[in-house]
Amino acid sequence: MKKINLKKDQLQIYKRENSDFWQIKIKLPYKKSLRKSSRTKILKEAKRIALNNYNNLISARNVNFTLSKNYFYQSHHLIESKGLTKKEIECFLNESIKYIEFNKQKIKKLNLLKGRTIFNLFFEDSTRTRTSFEVAAKRLGADLINVAVKDSSINKGETLLDTMTTINSMSPDVLIVRHPEEGISNKISKIVKACVINAGDGSREHPTQALLDALTIKRKFNSFKNLKIAICGDIYHSRVARSNIEILSTLGASINVIGPKSLIPKEVKKLGVNIYYDMKKGLKNCDIVMMLRIQKERIVGTHIPNENEYFKKYGLDYKKLEYAKKKAFVMHPGPMNRGVEIETNLADDITRSLIQEQVTMGVAIRMACLEILINNRDKIEL
Ligand code: CP
Repeated sequence: MKKINLKKDQLQIYKRENSDFWQIKIKLPYKKSLRKSSRTKILKEAKRIALNNYNNLISARNVNFTLSKNYFYQSHHLIESKGLTKKEIECFLNESIKYIEFNKQKIKKLNLLKGRTIFNLFFEDSTRTRTSFEVAAKRLGADLINVAVKDSSINKGETLLDTMTTINSMSPDVLIVRHPEEGISNKISKIVKACVINAGDGSREHPTQALLDALTIKRKFNSFKNLKIAICGDIYHSRVARSNIEILSTLGASINVIGPKSLIPKEVKKLGVNIYYDMKKGLKNCDIVMMLRIQKERIVGTHIPNENEYFKKYGLDYKKLEYAKKKAFVMHPGPMNRGVEIETNLADDITRSLIQEQVTMGVAIRMACLEILINNRDKIEL
């Protein structure tokens, strides 16, 4: 048996004669040994995976769940990805690491935000974002109120900004807003005292989605340098595409956008991406293939071919994935249209698809966002 010590007696990798894969053994003081497969035959890759696992365990043990830090990100709102510096993005990613491990525990409850009031205000449908903010808030000990906006006084003619002013009078700590109007979260942030998080404004921005995507990628590749990421499909209507282009390029990745001409706006070129209308050319040498939903609810007129035609040209299946790097991973922010943007078996193939991992990372990143923003707000005079 080959054995390599990476952290004295605490971290080893070893390979049994009857196995191709490197195994990882972590033994922390006063803890039972943890053994798991690295699922790779490559020594360099096994070392990287082992160190990642070890560091995650250590950060979970040393976790400092207090609200007294000076974060690199200093605002008490999170409205857009555009303009975030590399260090600010890394601040969100780094603070979320402790929550990844925390969220694996049996009892997932902290007092960090005890007594804080958080409002979910979703004026558009959502599963992942709304529920993950709710899970995040509750795990941190906050009280979360889901406002049933479809049954609210907006139906009686109250303006959105009046609704926000009304809720502001109840002294909330955070307002999480999803709305079809572009720029609305920014307007709200100017009239309320609470922290405001943009949970998606029309086709413009969805910063926490891009942060969770960056976290998912970081955990697979560690660094963004030399990474090539393809974002494919309906770029035109996608706030996820815009936020991801901003964040992933700032972190150092190179971005290809791929889709039909009618679904790629010309202005996207200004964001420094490479544009392709053909999957074969666009996927060449890509490490990550991020598929996007066709946003039927935002498409006016005849932008796209029928769904079968679309799948043939732009839907991701195993055959098209071969155009990318041999071990390229697949992502999708969800909700996905199986058989339109992505082949159903590929979406469920956990050796290639990071879709479920993205959802898991969504809770951790949103816990970090709530922690950082509320802490920042506590420091300012209101
Ligand atoms: N990715 C995303 O925003 O999903 P939901 O619309 O379900 O929140």
